[in-house]
Amino acid sequence: MSLTVVDHPLTRHYLSTLRDETTPPEKFRETTRRLAYTLLMEATSDLDLTEVPITTPLERTTGYKIGRNLVAVAVLRAGLGLLDAVIDLLPDVTVGYAGVQRDEETALPQEYYTKFPNLNDARVVILEPMLATGGSLSWAVEKVKANGAHEILALCVVAAPQGVARMEKDHPDVRVVTAGLDRDLNDKYYIQPGLGDMGDRLFGTL
Ligand code: URA
Repeated sequence: MSLTVVDHPLTRHYLSTLRDETTPPEKFRETTRRLAYTLLMEATSDLDLTEVPITTPLERTTGYKIGRNLVAVAVLRAGLGLLDAVIDLLPDVTVGYAGVQRDEETALPQEYYTKFPNLNDARVVILEPMLATGGSLSWAVEKVKANGAHEILALCVVAAPQGVARMEKDHPDVRVVTAGLDRDLNDKYYIQPGLGDMGDRLFGTL
């Protein structure tokens, strides 16, 4: 598994705003979207392009377009926070949803909903903001692989060493792009220092 920690100054600035416990939900959502743009720029830097002839107001020249079927899969519900930026930046992206909740005691993933577009030959970007134990992301990767995907990338806001190790073991073929690699998990499997519960911070729930 390859891990990229994006250390662009904008990424670090936005991540700090997300970490700050006083950031209210509206600003948290807006900042998550901005941070997602910076992660996406890195995550898509190796996308293959096909050449297309175009005519500018002055002459004919060569242009480029993305030659891949791109699919985003949002892991519910926190993954929704990254989705606006993905839809905005990636033309023709189709979107799937993977509903999983973690058992508060065991932190094991429990599926409650999945819906995917055609994943054959697609480059799949899984939106899983908090890579904590890695259980949900590993489960989501399993699901998209079972539906035909084999080129898979995960966008995370924060990752813990335990989640990274789990992904290395379960899915060495997956690339993870994150804004921060944090220190540890606490006894409730929250990332430390982290940013708290991403879903609650995004949507103002308790
Ligand atoms: N999910 C969250 O929302 N936050 C964490 O710290 C870990 C998992």
